[in-house]
Amino acid sequence: MIDNETMKSILARRSYKVFDGRPIDDEALETIVTAGLYAPTGMNRQPWHFTVIKSREGMEKFGAARRSLPLPPGIPPEIAAKFGDPMRNAPVMILVSAKEGSTSLEDCCLAMENMFIAAASLGIMSGWDHATVNDLFNHAPELKAEMIPESYTLYAAAFFGYPGQTVKDRGERKGTVEYK
Ligand SMILES: Cc1cc2nc3c(=O)[nH]c(=O)nc-3n(C[C@H](O)[C@H](O)[C@H](O)COP(=O)(O)O)c2cc1C
Repeated sequence: MIDNETMKSILARRSYKVFDGRPIDDEALETIVTAGLYAPTGMNRQPWHFTVIKSREGMEKFGAARRSLPLPPGIPPEIAAKFGDPMRNAPVMILVSAKEGSTSLEDCCLAMENMFIAAASLGIMSGWDHATVNDLFNHAPELKAEMIPESYTLYAAAFFGYPGQTVKDRGERKGTVEYK
């Protein structure tokens, strides 16, 4: 394998559940978002809308919505405590939404992966959490209306920040690859 800077960033990228809270500066954030905007899209439609939540108040809107979600009954306190910091102490969250279309899902996911790799090249890690944000949008439609354009679907949502935990070595990849 050729070990160039791009490969280093791809291999350095990991998913994080906890960040250290340090802010991401605007130049780094612009770099990350630009990487997303240059992802390929079906018929070059670029159907997406990127919502970059970088203010404390913006993040806190999600935190408040998350805390107001009812916890499942009988949940142990140590698990419930995790709901106290629903935003993973991340300084930034990026949502990629689009109008439903034949390649909208692929387009938005490719944009997010480009952003993950660009972020990793800057030492900034990421964590996908699209299911949680969708739950929040179902629970708090006014939050959805504020965060993504009307009639758009959320296809990808992720936190970005500097690592606040150590992640386990993931070892060798076991995927199946066949060359013919
Ligand atoms: C579609 C998708 C959904 C994911 N959902 C979550 C999630 O809800 N919470 C979470 O902590 N990680 C989530 N992840 C991250 C994966 O757990 C992670 O990519 C996987 O364990 C491999 O680890 P790595 O990204 O560090 O290589 C998701 C990843 C993808 C691609």
